[in-house]
Amino acid sequence: MIKDLDNQVATLKELAERRKAAGMVKGALSAPPVNEELSQRKVPHTMAITSGKGGVGKTLITVNLAIQYARQGLKVLLIDADLGLANIDVVLGIEAPQFTIQDVLEDRLTLDQVAIQGPEGITILPAASGVAGLSALTEEQKLSLMDHIDRWNADFDVVLVDTGAGISENVRFFVLAVERIMVIATPDPTSVTDAYALMKVLFLNHRASHFDLVVNQARDEAEAKDVFRTLAQVADKFLNVVLNFVGSVPEDALLAQSVRVQKPVSITHPEAPVSKSFQKIATSLMRLWREKRHEEGRMIFFWRRLLDDTLMHSES
Ligand SMILES: Nc1ncnc2c1ncn2[C@@H]1O[C@H](COP(=O)(O)OP(=O)(O)O)[C@@H](O)[C@H]1O
Ligand SMILES: [Mg+2]
Repeated sequence: MIKDLDNQVATLKELAERRKAAGMVKGALSAPPVNEELSQRKVPHTMAITSGKGGVGKTLITVNLAIQYARQGLKVLLIDADLGLANIDVVLGIEAPQFTIQDVLEDRLTLDQVAIQGPEGITILPAASGVAGLSALTEEQKLSLMDHIDRWNADFDVVLVDTGAGISENVRFFVLAVERIMVIATPDPTSVTDAYALMKVLFLNHRASHFDLVVNQARDEAEAKDVFRTLAQVADKFLNVVLNFVGSVPEDALLAQSVRVQKPVSITHPEAPVSKSFQKIATSLMRLWREKRHEEGRMIFFWRRLLDDTLMHSES
């Protein structure tokens, strides 16, 4: 699998070079040249939400964070790359997606045609099957995807990717392209061990060195902090990674109910403690994003980042 990803990356790099040489971006599609375009495009904050174990609240947390940011007036893109329990469309009570990014990869539709509008103006991009099939793409398809992305004139402030659990291909692919990786764990010991195993693989194989932890379904803040301490200790002792505690979400019947009524609790009960916990996490995360950007200067947009990272690594 890792080999696959390396091959993928090598192919993308080759494509980027070919593309540069051929001046493709200036060609028939009359998109602006890469650098000019990058300097004009708003660069969104990006994060992948993941976990070692399934059913720990990734989708609920992702959706509620999206709502929190949208309510602050930010433009949010939610990429649904999870095939877990409750998919984003179910949680949001919108029609199940008819198309996925696969249709864009195979040049049948544009990103605009595949994207769905959700509540509070958020945009959802169904991606699961598309990403799973990414390693099977031809060079032409990859090239075409890059052009689709160039031409997708969407000005997102925040991009959240619900990646699914475990060391799936989705997780591997997206962690290369995002700024931050959020790990969700519950106090359940198997969830904690699986979270550790996930960080270990992402660190050893994908150079991920920073993770943001959210503890879900803790009895109280003290229990959440215990989970954090346990994970931070092993992360520090056995891996060279930094783990930030960004907050916790209480066990709350309102959340289970929100799945049944298909309306996020941040919309139906904005004042409830559980919604306030999402608000707190959204605020902490935004602070981390901004600090990081301040340190590192401009970030590069997402899929493009995957390409440019590879180019950078090959030059060093
Ligand atoms: N904090 C919570 N309080 C109560 N129930 C929760 C909480 N978090 C998750 N759940 C329950 O767990 C189920 C799985 O959550 P989900 O977000 O779909 O997990 P994942 O995306 O990680 O597979 C939800 O349908 C909900 O019933
Ligand atoms: Mg899920």
